[in-house]
Amino acid sequence: MTEIETLQELITADDVKRLHDFATAAPEPYNPYSDFGVLAVVETIDDRLYAGVNVENANYTLTKHAEEVAILLAIMDGAIQRNGRGFIKNIFVAGYGTMAPCGGCRQFISEFAFSGTVWIGLNRHDKSVLIDYFKTLLPLAFGPGDLGL
Ligand code: THU
Ligand code: ZN
Repeated sequence: MTEIETLQELITADDVKRLHDFATAAPEPYNPYSDFGVLAVVETIDDRLYAGVNVENANYTLTKHAEEVAILLAIMDGAIQRNGRGFIKNIFVAGYGTMAPCGGCRQFISEFAFSGTVWIGLNRHDKSVLIDYFKTLLPLAFGPGDLGL
């Protein structure tokens, strides 16, 4: 069995539905400039869920991505204290496109991911799902080890 087949069995259609339901129960994105709404959910290794949405700004470059917001909320609820830095079990994102993370989010997520962290991207148009180990989305990541930590 290949790694990706193992993964597809690990993340079931029920998991995707559960994460999507949690994401849609949260407040709406603030996306007046792009009209591109993104919903994110971080599932921690101690099975807690945190939703995030993109929060845009008239100074476009100050926009916060949904993944960042979900991670910040998890951290502010004590995720690092409970689990250590690599606290993200699954990171789910839903939007009207192929939901692979942007380069900036890959780096931001990487700080709090571990070797088993799974990325789940749901395209709300055609319901297709991109599932992969996060580490394959950011090979050779720059991280704490590069700074001697
Ligand atoms: N966006 C996210 O929140 N996450 C992503 O993974 C991709 C892009 C947001 C940023 C901006 O508000 C809008 O989507 C269009 O780029
Ligand atoms: Zn991003």
